[in-house]
Amino acid sequence: MQIIDGKKIAAEIKEEIASEVKKMIDADERPPHLAAILVGNDPASETYVTSKGKACKQVGFDSSTYRFESDITEEELLETVSFLNNDPDIDGFIVQLPLPDHIDEDKVIQAIKPEKDVDGFHPVNVGRMTIGLPAYISATPNGIMELLKRTGIETEGKNCVVLGRSNIVGRPMSILMSRTTQPGNATVTVCHSRTRNLPQITAQADILIVAIGKPEFVTADMVKEGAVVIDVGIHRVESSETKSGFRLIGDVKYDEVAPKTSYITPVPGGVGPMTIVSLLMNTFKAHKQEIYS
Ligand code: GUN
Repeated sequence: MQIIDGKKIAAEIKEEIASEVKKMIDADERPPHLAAILVGNDPASETYVTSKGKACKQVGFDSSTYRFESDITEEELLETVSFLNNDPDIDGFIVQLPLPDHIDEDKVIQAIKPEKDVDGFHPVNVGRMTIGLPAYISATPNGIMELLKRTGIETEGKNCVVLGRSNIVGRPMSILMSRTTQPGNATVTVCHSRTRNLPQITAQADILIVAIGKPEFVTADMVKEGAVVIDVGIHRVESSETKSGFRLIGDVKYDEVAPKTSYITPVPGGVGPMTIVSLLMNTFKAHKQEIYS
């Protein structure tokens, strides 16, 4: 069994980006600029946005955050989106989700110019990704593809089972793995809450991608000997064994599943560190106008 070290791979990619940014700055070009819109005081969202800012700084990107109280109107938020769409100094931006209930998330996402939608949430980017055109791909699936690529995992002709069908992870993941790219060319099955005989299906998987959002849902009996297991879940649970009183666990029961696998991502330190790096990669592409050239 080999552990896929997402932390190490993410650090390597950051170094690659930082060295390219340095060349740009040496050539008197402005660095890439990522902006984030943050509404309200949700602690998880605050953490995400702070981490994004730090990651930008590490690689030499500019970053800015547009903060609003949770009583901002939809109209005001849409005005900010429009402002960022038209600001030539900003290469890409994200609207941190979730938004307060009185704001229509789909409407806001659809107001983002696809060329600046570095989260890859706009239907134009999702559609382009689906048919294999250049597109911004959302951070977690993009990060997983990068992990598979950089670990040299063969996916062609393999049975890939994706657990979960969310717009942000499961659905795009299933599409990417079935595309004719490398990684890709896999035979993909998407499982979800209504799937029958789930353990029999997951046990057929050469590559099992788990994004079901349930702590330690996948147990050893559900996994084939020698499978590659990618765990997208992250849950904070109480623990008497750590100083903080908490520990992080994934959607996979790691201790019993890991010995059966050929490769597995740990939690933390697997998929997680790759998501912010994906956003940096997308922002860099936006700066270079690679996708919509
Ligand atoms: N909330 C949780 N994850 C994400 C993400 O990747 N992008 C945005 N915009 N909001 C999120």
